[in-house]
Amino acid sequence: MRVAVLKGGRSLERQVSLRSGARVEDALGRLGHEVVPVDVGGDFVDRVRAAAADVAFVALHGADGEDGTVQELLALLDVPYTGSGPAACVRCWDKAVAKHALRDAGIPTPEFFALDASAFAELGAARALPALEERLGFPVVVKPARQGSALGVRFARDAGAVPGALVAASSYDDRILLERHVAGRDLAVSILDGPDGPQALPIVEAIPEGDEYDFEARYEIGRTHFECPARLPADVTARAQELALAVWRLLGCRGVARVDLMLEAATGELAVLEANTVPGLTATSLLPQAAEAGGVDFDDLVGRLVDQALARVGAS
Ligand SMILES: Nc1ncnc2c1ncn2[C@@H]1O[C@H](COP(=O)(O)OP(=O)(O)O)[C@@H](O)[C@H]1O
Ligand SMILES: [Mg+2]
Repeated sequence: MRVAVLKGGRSLERQVSLRSGARVEDALGRLGHEVVPVDVGGDFVDRVRAAAADVAFVALHGADGEDGTVQELLALLDVPYTGSGPAACVRCWDKAVAKHALRDAGIPTPEFFALDASAFAELGAARALPALEERLGFPVVVKPARQGSALGVRFARDAGAVPGALVAASSYDDRILLERHVAGRDLAVSILDGPDGPQALPIVEAIPEGDEYDFEARYEIGRTHFECPARLPADVTARAQELALAVWRLLGCRGVARVDLMLEAATGELAVLEANTVPGLTATSLLPQAAEAGGVDFDDLVGRLVDQALARVGAS
């Protein structure tokens, strides 16, 4: 097969995507496929046409690859591709859209309000912040609705910290999510489609070193370590995996996805933060760790995603 590997792009997660893409290219080579690397930019459509690939592997994180745009274009160009279709991408990429869907479906997700930046500029939304803070409590989590890799996420400890956090988030997106902070453990459940339908892989826990509110430090390289499978009671593991599968079905994911959750320390309750349609595939990313722990090595993972993309064409 001739496989176009879509990577890079213009998003803030370009560097991560280049690393994911390089690893995917190596794996495809080992699997005996012919690889056509495509660094996604202004000549995307021309390059995809010129690649004349049997299938495209989407290794683009962030906008472009996860917001459904590239999927729409690939459908238009009649190129089968790995992972979710445009509708699921749109629903997962915008955390406000995803969380509304979760809440409507009764899937637990931290209480939130989603406001466009224009609401502050044109509707005096700042005047409603005290009411919002009373509802959510402190710290308030402030994050861009459409972004990834924890970019622009801030924990505002008090009312004085909220405006700065809003400004920080709005430099990434004009829609901002204000969310209840869940103190607890940070879990990720990856899901992989298989012959018997989607299956949840072993859970990865991100364990920070140091002050849990010191968000910047916590995501510095080396300040967080990952444990897979996460050390959890069997019933919690099962519940988290079931929740992730429910999210997958609700949002219409395909191929692969990663659902991020919190396990609240005080209550033992699980809450879904978000779903990612193009999870990282770098050497230190969570999905490859989870797959490995589930008995699916990296080449196998890449091969399966390609096969599924091709099988969908055969089926339609
Ligand atoms: N409501 C919350 N309560 C506690 N921690 C949070 C909350 N929202 C986000 N976080 C922390 O920030 C990280 C990134 O947030 P997330 O919503 O997954 O966005 P993204 O990964 O797309 O940047 C989470 O893994 C978690 O550690
Ligand atoms: Mg996340």
